[in-house]
Parts: sequence; structure tokens; C-alpha cells
Amino acid sequence: MIQIGLLGFGTVGSGVVELIQKNQSTIAKRLGENLEIKKILVRNLNKKRLFSSEEKITDDPAKILGDNEISIIVELIGGDEPALTYIREALLAGKHVVTANKEVISKHGKELLDLAQKQGVNLFFEASVGGGIPIIRPMKQCLAANEVIKIMGILNGTTNYILTQMTEKNKSFEEALWEAQKEGYAESDPAADINGSDAARKLAILSSIAFNSRITPDQVYTEGIDSVNLIDINYAKELGYRIKLVAIGKRHGNEVEVSVTPILLKEKHPLASVSDAFNAILVEGNAVGRVMFYGQGAGKMPTASAVVADIMDAVRTRSGNRIYCTCYDELNIMNPGHSISRFYLRLRVTDKPGVLSKISGAMGENQISLSQVFQKNTMDHTAEIVMVTYEVPFENLQNALEEIKAYRQVEEISSVIRVEEES
Ligand code: NAP
Ligand code: HSE
Repeated sequence: MIQIGLLGFGTVGSGVVELIQKNQSTIAKRLGENLEIKKILVRNLNKKRLFSSEEKITDDPAKILGDNEISIIVELIGGDEPALTYIREALLAGKHVVTANKEVISKHGKELLDLAQKQGVNLFFEASVGGGIPIIRPMKQCLAANEVIKIMGILNGTTNYILTQMTEKNKSFEEALWEAQKEGYAESDPAADINGSDAARKLAILSSIAFNSRITPDQVYTEGIDSVNLIDINYAKELGYRIKLVAIGKRHGNEVEVSVTPILLKEKHPLASVSDAFNAILVEGNAVGRVMFYGQGAGKMPTASAVVADIMDAVRTRSGNRIYCTCYDELNIMNPGHSISRFYLRLRVTDKPGVLSKISGAMGENQISLSQVFQKNTMDHTAEIVMVTYEVPFENLQNALEEIKAYRQVEEISSVIRVEEES
């Protein structure tokens, strides 16, 4: 019997307990051992629980971390502290650790993997990226013979759910966010989903593995979906695109480009049809070509699926044959200003002759060519101008927009969103 200590009994923690009970006999046959959740740590002992595990519940971490019969700690509290301290203490006590915590792994992964190696125990974190989608293990093992050229993915279920509901059902941002929270997709503070930082943490983990160089979330150029509104979603549709929050990691020689931004994707692009809380990750390797991983990126049971599989793997590899930190290179992070892309722009201007030519003049001075321009919605002597540029370094666009912003006739630069032409 393998005794497990569970830290956290929320959306994912309760899914783990439910899955171990539901598939008990299958898991035991596959593993040759039984799994038992011995104790569960929560913050609030008075909270009503849907699950009848009350006799196992405690609010004292020492009762779990100091229990010698517990050999595996599963951390599902989330956030930086106290999760980081508990993981460190568990590793120091010689226990294997499984976690879904992207914040801790993206910021402290190297330190913790090195500590696990020193202690001769496992540290697994499959559920930290892509929820139920197998991606960490395939990247570290099945694709290990490749040099990775590019990864591109939808890594946040909450924002993908919101954008899908806004695009397909014309729902408001607030209504869609509330639904995502109700389904258990969102972080306890959904700002991390909305502002792109959750996806940036996941991209940092994936890029560190893909490019064998430690990349941290603060190095990822990050924009959230806060600025995406229904007007842009509808213009994008008219132009044949879908707006998605896309994470990109791309190698350019000794530099890595890492960004999380909203992107207009061609309707035929494989990521454009990934809807609701589903996630997908495209990996391009120099031998395998393009492979795509797709599935439920958030939610109770899909995430529990990845956590329980990690527990099973921790049991299987408890006596060795482990992969620890694979970051043996030190690549530089590309300046986001040097990143080259097409851009969609929406501006509100005074509806007078000569305004458009002034704007295109500033674009021309900064070596920006325009692929499409149209004017819409004339009202109260103002006009909405929508433009799509050809490929341009981001810093050229920023310089042009600084000039344009200073024009008296430009009332607002409403949106600046990247455009991906490939499908
Ligand atoms: P959650 O529903 O908010 O549950 C958190 C649990 O941790 C609760 O049981 C809470 O106790 C307990 N907790 C919080 N602070 C604590 C503290 N200081 N000491 C002891 N216990 C504490 O979170 P979740 O959605 O299950 O997420 C857990 C982890 O999985 C996070 O790292 C998250 O990013 C990751 N993850 C989540 C999903 C998803 O779809 N939800 C998917 C992939 C990864 P109480 O019950 O008493 O409040
Ligand atoms: N809040 C995260 C999301 C949970 O929406 O993708 C899965 O990591």
C-alpha cells in the first residue's frame, strides 16, 4: 500500500481523491500496488466538503509532512507560499512530490529539481501545463531526439473559454468569466488567467524543457486578453481570423523568443478551432516535424488524470531511472522589440480629409507596409480605421504608433494585435 499525503482539497484535490476511488482496481492492477490518501491538508476545517473524507482532514501541515508512512506528497494548494516551503520540506524529508503548481515550478523548478536529485526522489509536474494533456513527459522523453524549433500553444483554459463564448455566442467578457469560474477552470485570483501570467508561467516551463535553457515567467513578453473586445473579435471574423491567446517559444540561433499575446489566427490554423477550456500545443521538432497535443486544459477530472498518472509514475520509478533538470544551455532571451509579425490595428480618428495619408506617412517612415485598410462606423465626425500591416519588427510599429498618437486628429489607438498568416 502506497500512502499519500494530499496538500489541498479544492477543485483538483477533490478530483484526485475521486479518481483514486473510482479507478481503484484498474490502478492497482496496472501498478501492482494500492494507492491510499492517508491525510489531506486544508486551510479551513469548517468548510462543507462534498466528499466524505472528514476523518483524514487536517489544517496542520506537520501531521502530513512529518508522517513517516507517507512516501508521496501531492501539492494542490497553488500559489507561491506556503506551497513552495511544503514542497521543499517534503523533498528534504525524502518524499516524492507531485504538483500541479505552475507558479512554483516556473519560478523555482531548477532549485527543486536539483534538490529532488540530491535527495534521490521524484518531482513530477505534468498537470502544471495543459491540465489533462500529456505534454511534459512527451517533451522530455518521446521527443528527446529532436531539436525543438518552435512551440506554439493555447495554454490557458479560462481565457480560451472566454474568447470562445464571446466569438461564438456573443457573450460579454464578464458573463463568460463567471461561467469559467463556476466550472473550476479559473485560478483563485482570475487576474492571473486574464492578464496572461498563467500562460506565461506554463510557457516558461515548456520552453525551459524544449530549449534546454532555464526561462522564467518574467522573461516572457506578456499581454492578456483584457484589451480584446467584441468589436475586434467581429472585425477579425470579417477578415477570416479568430482571436486566441497564444503562447510562442521560438529558437533563433542563440536566442529564444518567448511571448504570450492575443493573436489573429487564420480560420484554417490548427489552433483556431480549439474552443472552450480546451488547450492545444503544437511542437515543431527537426526530426518529427509538427506534432499537436490537444485536450482539456483545465477542470477537476482532466487535471486529476495527469496528477494521478504522476503518482503512479512516482511509484514505478521510486528506485531510480529518473530525468531531472534538463537545462544545460544558457540561451539569451530575444528583445521583444525585435520580434517580427504582422499586426492588426484599430484607430478612432477625426473624419477629415488627409488623416489617413498622415497615418500611412508615419507607417512608411518606419518601413511599415499596409496589406489592408478600411474605414467603418462613421459617427459624430469620427471614423474607425482598421489596418493590417505586412511583417514588421515590433519596435518599428511602436515608433510609428508613438508618432500617430501625437496627431491631433487621432482620438484613440484602440487595438494593436498580432496576426499569424501561416495556417
Ligand atoms: P482550489 O480549488 O482553490 O483549491 C485549493 C486548496 O488548497 C483548497 O482545498 C484550500 O483549502 C487549500 N489551501 C489554500 N491555501 C492553503 C494554505 N495556506 N494551507 C493549506 N491549505 C490551503 O485550487 P485548484 O483549482 O484545485 O488548483 C490547485 C492547483 O492546481 C493550483 O496550483 C492550480 O494552478 C493547479 N491547476 C488547477 C487546474 C484547474 O483546472 N483548477 C488545472 C491545472 C492546474 P480550503 O478548501 O480549506 O479553502
Ligand atoms: N486557470 C488555469 C486555466 C487552470 O484556466 O488554464 C489550468 O492550469
